[in-house]
Amino acid sequence: MSNPGERIDLRSDTVTKPTDEMRRAMAAAEVGDDVFGDDPTVIALEERAAELLGKEAGLFVASGSMGNLVAQMAHLDRGMETICGAQTHIVLDEAASYAVVVGASVRPLPDRADGMMELAAIRDAFRDPSDVHQPITGLVAIENTHAHSMAQPLPVSYVAAVAALAHERGVPLFMDGARFWNAAVAVGVSGRELAAPADTVSFCLSKGLACPVGSVVVGSKATIWKARRARKLVGGGMRQAGILAAAGLVALRDGPAGMIERLAEDHANARHLAEGLAELPGIRSPGDVAQPDDGPLDPERVRTNFVLFRVNGGMAAFLDGLAARGIDMVAFSGEQIRACTHHGIDAADIDRTIAAVRDVLADLGVRRSPSEPVGAA
Ligand SMILES: Cc1ncc(COP(=O)(O)O)c(C=O)c1O
Repeated sequence: MSNPGERIDLRSDTVTKPTDEMRRAMAAAEVGDDVFGDDPTVIALEERAAELLGKEAGLFVASGSMGNLVAQMAHLDRGMETICGAQTHIVLDEAASYAVVVGASVRPLPDRADGMMELAAIRDAFRDPSDVHQPITGLVAIENTHAHSMAQPLPVSYVAAVAALAHERGVPLFMDGARFWNAAVAVGVSGRELAAPADTVSFCLSKGLACPVGSVVVGSKATIWKARRARKLVGGGMRQAGILAAAGLVALRDGPAGMIERLAEDHANARHLAEGLAELPGIRSPGDVAQPDDGPLDPERVRTNFVLFRVNGGMAAFLDGLAARGIDMVAFSGEQIRACTHHGIDAADIDRTIAAVRDVLADLGVRRSPSEPVGAA
């Protein structure tokens, strides 16, 4: 929780710092050499993650991007193809590792405002394996929460429907769950239920769960063995990695002792922020598929810990004005601004943020015209 005068950093949930308990656990961690497979703390973390998501095995990796990469490498041969949303991290934000490292192509489909792809579009996107011209569909990937749709959580019913389509064609389903636990908390199901339809799932420890480093990929023993080889291939075999895994074990504790349950506070804070922003002149919707008229920001769209919006008066001037008042938000794609709540941000910080936004908009001369409804300036 920030003190008055301290910066409020809403750029991302990756800015979270490890808790005191994590630091203590890291200092005391029993370690071995994880490439030899004998770091007990890494093994404990991998087993805990696999148990929580109901899969046979887990693999600790350095980052969410590495988790996505090794999962693709485990599932795909060169020349294969992944069906996935066009606005997903794998497609937009991983330096084309699907092509450069995996040697695969992607078949990007439009993502809807609820973060889902049309099931009919997925059904139509599978290639014909008997046609010598076509790549072979080797994987379907979904992102949960789906960042570019204001981090919408994908419900179990959708994950199951996509899995059924994939499995009918003998293709596995991978879930990029960088914010998997935000999704599980938002839709009110256990990690096991949400992960069940997918073959392989990754989740980040270093975002809302507040660990300093790392992600875990879970799946069948056979797939995780391939992912382990892939991790070595890309130089991701770490040695006394138990130091890092120890923080993950704290995060994955049950109940209030861990970091999963408290994600609900981040979601409530994000909703509160959106409600406050929506009252202010010049704050507009992020202009996505749901609100193509770019109208007022609809706080109901905030389901997890992202608030995306646009602003009148110039995005750069707005962000600079906020930064000068000790509050950091970040430019997101297409003139959108992102504010992301996380451990370390409380309701008082949100009130301070709303007041600062009001002041910045006033400084920029953004006013509500008398005819405009609240939130539509
Ligand atoms: C949906 C999604 N997947 C994967 C990642 C990659 O995580 P990392 O930054 O740890 O590589 C991110 C990062 O923000 C993300 O939002």
